[in-house]
Amino acid sequence: MAGIDYTSIIPNNVALHENRRLQRALEDWQPKFLDWWQDMGPTGFQAKEIYLRTAVSVDAKGWAQFGYVRMPEYRWGIFLAEPEAGRQINFGDHKGQPAWQEVPGEYRGTLRRLIVTQGDTEPASVEQQCHLGRTCPSLYDLRNLFQVNVEEGRHLWAMVYLLDAHFGRDGREESEALLQRRSGDADKPRILGAFNEPTPDWLSFFMFCFFTDRDGKYQLASLAESGFDPLSQTCRFMLTEEAHHMFVGEAGIMRIVQRACELMREHKTDDLRPHGGIDLRLIQKYLNFHCSVSLDLFGSEISTNAANFYTTGLKGRFEETKKDDDHQLKDAAYSMAGLDGERITVREEAALVSLNERLRDDYVADCARGVARWNEVIRKHGVDVELTLPHRAFHRAIGMFSEVRVSPDGRVVSQAEWDARHGDWLPTEDDKAYIQSLMHPVTERGKFANWIAPPPRGINGQPVDFEYVRLG
Ligand SMILES: [Fe+2]
Ligand SMILES: [Fe+2]
Repeated sequence: MAGIDYTSIIPNNVALHENRRLQRALEDWQPKFLDWWQDMGPTGFQAKEIYLRTAVSVDAKGWAQFGYVRMPEYRWGIFLAEPEAGRQINFGDHKGQPAWQEVPGEYRGTLRRLIVTQGDTEPASVEQQCHLGRTCPSLYDLRNLFQVNVEEGRHLWAMVYLLDAHFGRDGREESEALLQRRSGDADKPRILGAFNEPTPDWLSFFMFCFFTDRDGKYQLASLAESGFDPLSQTCRFMLTEEAHHMFVGEAGIMRIVQRACELMREHKTDDLRPHGGIDLRLIQKYLNFHCSVSLDLFGSEISTNAANFYTTGLKGRFEETKKDDDHQLKDAAYSMAGLDGERITVREEAALVSLNERLRDDYVADCARGVARWNEVIRKHGVDVELTLPHRAFHRAIGMFSEVRVSPDGRVVSQAEWDARHGDWLPTEDDKAYIQSLMHPVTERGKFANWIAPPPRGINGQPVDFEYVRLG
């Protein structure tokens, strides 16, 4: 594979200079992307120097470099993971055939839709987060926000590359449309629901990185199994960057939890509002909200689309090649939670149509590991509270559970009980106003807002009080 070409306008390891048509398409798209970034990217910080990492290779030992950069000058590039020699399609009807290097004609529309749906989430999250910089709890957190933002920008580049390289004129039109939809816009919304929700405060931001970005991880991991090799290589490298986004979310919540415990012990109360903290009950409500809207992103429990993506070899399961079965699933069954009148029960369904639910299961298990690490912090402080994931049927808008009202502990409840209690389970207007009241910028080096603990260490070996953003 070619090395990274940093002399060309668009850094890449896909030998862009050998494909003049594609190079021209991307060079035509680049100024439109920059216009979008100026309009919809982080408000108020475009001229500031930020200590960011930039992808410079796909070598596992050292793929990134760190340095100060103004975000509009960030080197968004196109990087594919190293190809696997002789890679085959590992599941579905085409199992055992060589992986496709070109789009298989009969699946063109489906594949394009999958890529566009993934691609649409990348700029959407940048739009959702564009005002957060103004209320950062520290320079360290501000830098992490911008790191996530520029990398979501690069993920958009990654999907646009696939569209432009493999889908001709349709692909170019989709690339333009990705810059035209807007998160939360009534006329041109982003494709998926959770990406039209606002991210108005930093508690929501960390929850978003933990729950919603993690959906991204699971989608990318399934697409990394794709029989369409360029998609697989693209997603494999995106996952490398994605790990940092998960870290930002998990560590951010962990630091808020830690601060809550410190304040509880200091003031001998679990009501932290008089002390400017975020109490564990309120953290639980935000957790319930962000978990439930992110569960919706996996789609309906029973889905013939999901079955088709699999059978046609376009989208695999999480860790497909590590699974020990026939990778075709024609006769296999899968057990999942179902609705039996007013009761939630377990039922067997055909495995192929259950693939959304199976991916949701992998996701929930991963979320639970993070929650356990938060609870470890609570336990170490001697506080007798546990954070929990809400039941998967709670507060759903998609799938069979969207028809019923369910409590976080998994009881089907009446509309009357829901109306009376949902304020105990989800953030109320009052809760949101309180969180908003805490959002004051802290931009002095090494200082942190009162509601969040400092991180144990800085970024890339730098101290915690490093000047991660030069505001001067
Ligand atoms: Fe992303
Ligand atoms: Fe991400």
